[in-house]
Amino acid sequence: MLDHHLLDPIIEKIKNYLIDSQKDDLKVVNFHTPGELKEHINFTIPDQGIGEHEFLELIDKYLEFGVKTGNKQFLNQLYSGFNQPAFFGEVFTALTNTSMYTYEVAPVATSIETEMIRLMCSYAGYDNGNGIFLSGGSNANMIAMFSARNRMIPESRLEGYSKDEKLTAFVNERAHYSIETAANILGIGSKQVIKVKTDEHGMIIPEELQKEIKNSFERGEKPFFVVATCATTLLGAYDPIDKMAEITEKYGIWLHADGAFGGSLILSDQHRHLMNGIERTDSFSWNPHKLMNIPLICSTLLVKEKGVLQKNITDIDADYIFHNIDAIEDLGKKSIQCGRRVDAVKLWFAWKYFGIDGYQKRIDNLIDMSEYAEEIIKNSNELEMVSKRQSFALCFRYLPPNGQDLNEFNLQLREKLRKSGKSIVNFGHLGNTLTIRLVITNGEMSKVDVSRFFNNVLEVGKDLDCKGS
Ligand SMILES: Cc1ncc(COP(=O)(O)O)c(C=O)c1O
Repeated sequence: MLDHHLLDPIIEKIKNYLIDSQKDDLKVVNFHTPGELKEHINFTIPDQGIGEHEFLELIDKYLEFGVKTGNKQFLNQLYSGFNQPAFFGEVFTALTNTSMYTYEVAPVATSIETEMIRLMCSYAGYDNGNGIFLSGGSNANMIAMFSARNRMIPESRLEGYSKDEKLTAFVNERAHYSIETAANILGIGSKQVIKVKTDEHGMIIPEELQKEIKNSFERGEKPFFVVATCATTLLGAYDPIDKMAEITEKYGIWLHADGAFGGSLILSDQHRHLMNGIERTDSFSWNPHKLMNIPLICSTLLVKEKGVLQKNITDIDADYIFHNIDAIEDLGKKSIQCGRRVDAVKLWFAWKYFGIDGYQKRIDNLIDMSEYAEEIIKNSNELEMVSKRQSFALCFRYLPPNGQDLNEFNLQLREKLRKSGKSIVNFGHLGNTLTIRLVITNGEMSKVDVSRFFNNVLEVGKDLDCKGS
């Protein structure tokens, strides 16, 4: 039964949440430990359903204690921001709940996904390309590796393949862990993923790639998959695709671009050069849920050659679902999923709303704001860059007085900042050095927002003393 009368108070709550999230003094998180959270929210399911009043209270609590990822001080992950047209796309996707396998049950969404894939392939220079929306960049990388394995050993689809065939993949030494997971899932083995040395920017050194591939051949292995990361997760480095393509083309190795993080840079006339050579790759993971600020999940894998994705799936007879009667190929035939979320509609809403130019400006703004952030760090006596910036990620640290341990100090600084709820930023290690990583991924960031972040960092840093800790 429809509780129509719940609709008005819920819409009011959404409105208030959105209005509040515009306020500068709003905390990104009202931090509580897991134990404390249980004191505020009863997580168990009751025998008898709760009433409307309690239901509305649950919504309040969910909103109150969740992280406000639309807030401009949410700088922790590679997704962020609130994208209004995409939000509406998500709402109407849920309202019309359907699955992407057939045109029969998703006629409009099928046409939308087909158009989004066409447009995205055109950016990649895949004239005869194809693609699919799937459940994230990790999954996209896995399907790319799966496609490369099937090209190398076509019989593996039906027969499996022998452990003696040592397939090897090659990645940036700071590539995302999903590549190793993919090798694990596909039975290739994560040890068969060879990490290639990088330069001071964090980009693969082509000569090192060439050397590793040669060594692998000499060991009797089968190099089959090379990944050019388009913005590494920590440093935001773009591998030199063109130079890598020269090597992979020579040996006939599949070249994949992992643009899960930074693939959207391709929308910018000014900065696209960092992805020069993308048209020479065989596949490309591109996550609009990161730099295009589409709500999670919105992720694609594009392939250069039409039919590759279908070839991954043996001709399984599933006539209880695919009837081939609508003069269009059902998209389910190129997916390893059966039921599949409608993720293209929210992207389509947003792209229509902002337009090609609007999105280009949003991406350009990310780089402008990253340059501004770098300027602040370089002009500060208390802060220093830990590595060179190439795009949207800035690795920096605070320099405490009196010889305090730098790693310990910066670890505590970021913890204190997070728990204060003023800003959330992440950290990682470059060798033995702990670095704070600021990522600018919200297309609506302004200089005021960037300055506010650094003021928060400096304020917390000033009062922190880690001596003897
Ligand atoms: C370079 C890179 N590849 C792949 C992924 C995985 O994407 P997802 O989180 O959508 O699975 C990430 C996520 O941060 C990433 O940075």
